[in-house]
Amino acid sequence: MYQYHCLNQISDVGIQEFSEEYVPVSRVEDADAVLVRSASMHEMEFGGRLKAIARAGAGVNNIPLERCAEEGIVVFNTPGANANGVKELVIAGMLLASRDIIGGINWVQENEEDGNIAKDTEKAKKAFAGCELDGKKLGVIGLGAIGVLVANAAVSLGMDVYGYDPYVSVDSAWNLNRSIRHAKTVDEIYKECDYITIHVPATESTKGMIDGNAIGLMKKGVVLLNFARDVLVVEEAVIDALVAGKIKHYVTDFPTPVITGVKGAIVIPHLGASTEESEDNCARMAAKEIRSYLEHGNIRHS
Ligand code: MLT
Repeated sequence: MYQYHCLNQISDVGIQEFSEEYVPVSRVEDADAVLVRSASMHEMEFGGRLKAIARAGAGVNNIPLERCAEEGIVVFNTPGANANGVKELVIAGMLLASRDIIGGINWVQENEEDGNIAKDTEKAKKAFAGCELDGKKLGVIGLGAIGVLVANAAVSLGMDVYGYDPYVSVDSAWNLNRSIRHAKTVDEIYKECDYITIHVPATESTKGMIDGNAIGLMKKGVVLLNFARDVLVVEEAVIDALVAGKIKHYVTDFPTPVITGVKGAIVIPHLGASTEESEDNCARMAAKEIRSYLEHGNIRHS
């Protein structure tokens, strides 16, 4: 009999991966395995029984990896399981930065009471005119599961896509559209692209990578998208660049107190993976990893 604890509500479809040999317990200290989405485990006591933690998501910043290694607790994540959900929100983010959809919707709500909207749409057309993605250059930094999906989707929107990843060459990356250009350095992305989207994990070497120097290399009016982790970006530098008009929009899935409310920032409350499908996929993969480890000692290498 295995005991597991869910730290966040994990999709029922995922939990159904467990057989009747698995029982939920209410305390982390009593569990053989923990499933977690976003709750931080850094300050948590584990108890002697814990053997595995599965994060229903890609990033593992909420898990104390060093302590787990010392205590022999295996940590799994679910790479790729929510990639499609994130990809779709990144594309939506590019569209929100290019067409003032929110301004237009608000305008309709504000004006609907006078019944003259049809006549006034001429004014709205001028006030909310945008630009198209077709023909614009997109730089994708990081060609893991999400970066590859974003790059391929952007090609089908007519964008001229540049890919950069220090560990994966675009030529050898699987499933990449042949028309995606291989940027040899990240600076090439900064200098060339109209839209830049970051899809790298938060590590010691990537934290703060979008700083004043990186922004200095970018084109005036660039749109920067961050659906990876807030710490990749030096927010004060982004704010200065928004105020100066160097960055036109910063689209972020991380509503930090610093960025929220800044003009030109489009801030989303970490919804990238919040789709029914992504939540089910992550929970299913997390539960399978736990079973495979507890029952057979398998550890996936990805
Ligand atoms: C991830 O790391 O994949 C996301 O943070 C998942 C989530 O939204 O929970």
